[in-house]
Amino acid sequence: MFLIGGTASLSIAEDLSLQSNIPIAETIIHRFPDGELYVRIKEKIEKHEILIIQTTYPDENIIELFLLLDACKRANAKKITVIIPYFGYARQDKQFKPGEPISAEALATLICVNADEIITIDPHKEHIKGFFSIPTKSVSAVPALAEYLKNKNIDVVLAPDKGALKRAKDTAKILNCEVDYLEKKRIDGSTIIIKPKQLEVKNKTVAIIDDIISTGGTMAAAITELKKQKAAKVYVACTHGLFAGAAIEKLKKAQCDEIISTETIRSAYSKVKITPVLTSLF
Ligand code: R5P
Repeated sequence: MFLIGGTASLSIAEDLSLQSNIPIAETIIHRFPDGELYVRIKEKIEKHEILIIQTTYPDENIIELFLLLDACKRANAKKITVIIPYFGYARQDKQFKPGEPISAEALATLICVNADEIITIDPHKEHIKGFFSIPTKSVSAVPALAEYLKNKNIDVVLAPDKGALKRAKDTAKILNCEVDYLEKKRIDGSTIIIKPKQLEVKNKTVAIIDDIISTGGTMAAAITELKKQKAAKVYVACTHGLFAGAAIEKLKKAQCDEIISTETIRSAYSKVKITPVLTSLF
């Protein structure tokens, strides 16, 4: 068996290789002067099982994954498993308006052309796994995030909305603390209050946990309200830190005490390694 780390997920591949003793196949990946990508698998991988690790974000990493898959197939790999730390395009998981694609399904279909199995981490919605026509499983980054939060003396874990409550409950169970979700309440035409459904947060240390932070809008609004309600500290934690545009500035302006993300998308906030949740699979 060999591991192949795509550009987006090379450090995860290196960690996984160290922890699981699966060697990394030698590859060449570079860009032509016009920006097109070149990949070559130098290792003899014929009749070997291959684990390709590649986040499908941003778009250039999707092309790289397709080329790696094609190269593995042509080299007669025995079985190709793709570990997708962050499966991009997952939020367009249905047609919200006529004329739209189901982007998550379109991407899944193309990946399945040359792959035999998929492993992903915290997909945006569980039903996305059904878009792949090959065996697909997901693992949760919650144990890894909770481990990081263990020394922060968290009193309450909050989900940013009811839909995200399971993740918050799983985290709270590990941290042995209270759990609740944030509810938006419209007071009048121009006033919306975001507050925990049941719990008081005054003087408490709170962790809000979500699968994705993109623009930071959801988290920033929540932090602002929790600080208004005199929460002592507010940490925000996510599996996939996209941090689009001015997300970080928004979170800092809202007086977030710490921004925590895993390394499914590499950033300055990738403080939590996901190899512990992946190694349990091999
Ligand atoms: C939504 O369903 C997701 O779980 C996140 O809450 C959302 O993607 C966060 O987006 P933003 O950071 O742009 O508010």
